[in-house]
Amino acid sequence: MERDCFDDNEELCREEISEENAGEEIYKEKRVSERINMAGRLDGKIAVVTGSGSGIGQAIAERLAQEGANCVVDYRDHVEEAQATRDKIEAAGGKAVMVHADVSVLADCTNLIEQAWAQLGSCDILVNNAGIEKEADFVDVTEADYDAVLNVNLKGAFFLTQAFVRKLQAAKKPGRVINISSVHEDMVFPHFSTYCASKGGMRMLMRDLAVELGPLGITVNNIAPGAINTPINKSLLADKPKLDALLANIPLGRLGNPEEVAGVAAFLASDDGSYVTGSTYFLDGGLIRNYHEQ
Ligand code: BGC
Repeated sequence: MERDCFDDNEELCREEISEENAGEEIYKEKRVSERINMAGRLDGKIAVVTGSGSGIGQAIAERLAQEGANCVVDYRDHVEEAQATRDKIEAAGGKAVMVHADVSVLADCTNLIEQAWAQLGSCDILVNNAGIEKEADFVDVTEADYDAVLNVNLKGAFFLTQAFVRKLQAAKKPGRVINISSVHEDMVFPHFSTYCASKGGMRMLMRDLAVELGPLGITVNNIAPGAINTPINKSLLADKPKLDALLANIPLGRLGNPEEVAGVAAFLASDDGSYVTGSTYFLDGGLIRNYHEQ
């Protein structure tokens, strides 16, 4: 009797099996899981993840490191949390460097990318994750609120991508841009007009750059999370009636986890995502597709 197996070089081969080892399906399953753990889809890659001191950014940096990447951990206010991200990356076997950058400041954006090249030797993947939101009735939005939200969420992603692309172009290298937008790149969010303006802008920026940068071998995609269990949703999580109302609108009936977002980011950063560009991946438990007749 013969069956498929993998030899030491992980080549598919045929194996002679006797009566005794027949049915040892466990063997095959174990090899498959070893291969997943050792996938190393991002071996030798360098990633910059903005806002990686907490929430989704932290989970993405850790996951990219688990898949073999070295990472620049960007933080603005929370140095201890960024240190925790660095420790997680190192525990996963990756190299991590911490860089302080406020992505709303152009010089900080340029420096962040420069640091990836100076300290880690290159940069292949940019994850524009840093983001903030401010709740206010439209008529009450101040110029300061507008600038704070638009400058971090949109201007930051814009100029970081520009700095990243300039370096890639000079080095004649391909690259991956992954923006963490939101379901609200497409779905209304009353009382969060600045947030919607920034995420809607990110949607069109991604589409535009996918076309302009495609010939350089640079892919550009968005991940659009819905309600994810992270610090940005602190006040929502503390308000049970509001949380229950939101959960009632989510077909999967729960919030998402940062790790679920990180899995899609790893896919888009890896060879598995090599032909994907100009797309938004919604990770929202079905929220955006839910419609109730009023
Ligand atoms: C926002 C959250 C909101 C979720 C679903 C996210 O982009 O950051 O505050 O709960 O979308 O509406």
